[in-house]
Amino acid sequence: MPAKKQQLLIINGPNLNILGTRERRHYGTETLESITERLKKRAAEAGIAFDAFQSNSESALVERIQRAREDGVDFIIINPAAYTHTSVAMRDALSAVGIPFIEVHLSNVYARESFRRHSYFSDIAVGVISGLGARGYELALEFALQQGSSSRRAGGARSAAAAAPGRASRTARRNG
Ligand code: DQA
Repeated sequence: MPAKKQQLLIINGPNLNILGTRERRHYGTETLESITERLKKRAAEAGIAFDAFQSNSESALVERIQRAREDGVDFIIINPAAYTHTSVAMRDALSAVGIPFIEVHLSNVYARESFRRHSYFSDIAVGVISGLGARGYELALEFALQQGSSSRRAGGARSAAAAAPGRASRTARRNG
């Protein structure tokens, strides 16, 4: 049987649809569309399945995370945007599906207002990248690719979780 293609999902939260025009000193001038195109190209080169989702609505984001399990997604890269600091519902959804994820922020959230220093996601993430602009998504993608190939070598099925060193892998194991 041919090996299952690794499946990656990129999720972006509220106001990231207006990247490029939004507070450029924090978020740069590149649009989300352009960032996503680059990630898509890299995923295609690496031969993995790729989907990207953006919403301004918390319920739509929760529903997309829930659906990721049914879709067989192996790894999530998520910028929860403002929901980083408020959304127990999105955290619970990620915890429930048990899919390893990296939390990405374009800006350095630790160098801004104090309310941005708290995240509902970081302690259950494999890792967090903050302040590297769009490059953060690319680095997260490279990590996911590396996890995917090492878990395929190890013969794992849903095994980025088992191979990932961070907390999400423990969460995934707890959730069975
Ligand atoms: C952000 C940081 C959040 O604090 C903010 O609410 C965002 C974007 C970032 O990418 O830097 O919308 O997640």
